[in-house]
Amino acid sequence: MDEAKIMEIEFNLFLKAMVLRHGYDFRHYSKASFKRRVQALMHAAGCDNIGQLVPRVLREEGFLRFALSQLSVPVTEMFRDPQVFLTLRREVLPMLASYSHINIWQAGCATGEESVALAIMLKEEGLLHKAQIYATDINDDALDKAEAGIYPASVIELGASNYRQAGGRAAFEDYFHTSHGFSRVRGDIREKISYAHHDLVGDGVFCEVSLVVCRNVLIYFDHDLQRRVVSRFVDSLTRGGFLCLGTRESLVSAAAAEQFKAVDADCRIFKKLGGA
Ligand SMILES: C[S@@+](CC[C@H](N)C(=O)[O-])C[C@H]1O[C@@H](n2cnc3c(N)ncnc32)[C@H](O)[C@@H]1O
Repeated sequence: MDEAKIMEIEFNLFLKAMVLRHGYDFRHYSKASFKRRVQALMHAAGCDNIGQLVPRVLREEGFLRFALSQLSVPVTEMFRDPQVFLTLRREVLPMLASYSHINIWQAGCATGEESVALAIMLKEEGLLHKAQIYATDINDDALDKAEAGIYPASVIELGASNYRQAGGRAAFEDYFHTSHGFSRVRGDIREKISYAHHDLVGDGVFCEVSLVVCRNVLIYFDHDLQRRVVSRFVDSLTRGGFLCLGTRESLVSAAAAEQFKAVDADCRIFKKLGGA
């Protein structure tokens, strides 16, 4: 049997071990890019082939956390795609202002930059005191960084430019305490964000919210899984709630599209039909 066929068997055994042993089902992730992640995991774990990962997934204490952090792509930025944040600020936050409490679910938060950006915007629009952001991911290493809220100064510099394009009016660095090249998010911003481990594939609806922000996560899933995850967002949104996806993502199915109207199609911001 040629090497490629053996690799394919090993890859399938790895997927099976992850789902049967730990309940993480990656079988509906886009295959080519997920295979590259598994190969990266294989190298990081010091294995010669994917087959060697299988017993470690099954038996090694602590290997799951390491595997999930290597399989995930926690690339993010403060106010990434500033136009999207500008639209959230101008079109969505004013509509949430009348709510007595604003629950937001930010799914796939990586190291937390996007949730910090949301909290800063809520603060500037006078809504942070009645808001709670639940930011979730499967990568515990990234969640630990998010929870600490400490970023290299370079992240803040890039963020400052995005922030201004996203309608930011203050001095961006005032939201951070900076020393020795690192900046920590101010406590009043951090205390409104709860970080939690949650698997969009296996864990179901997180909680009832009026805004779901899930950007640049669906792109890693195949069509069927995208459809299932979007339907999870539909279930977690209150009537009249908002959904914000990544600029290369969509509502996927006609059935989901029927339940929303576009607030801004380019920014992938949608309002769930049915009144507030
Ligand atoms: C490219 S980052 C996106 C970060 C941020 N939303 C943004 O757009 O800047 C994708 C994140 O999705 C997370 N992710 C992947 N699969 C997931 C799942 N099944 N459940 C929750 N998060 C997941 C990854 O761990 C990673 O942190």
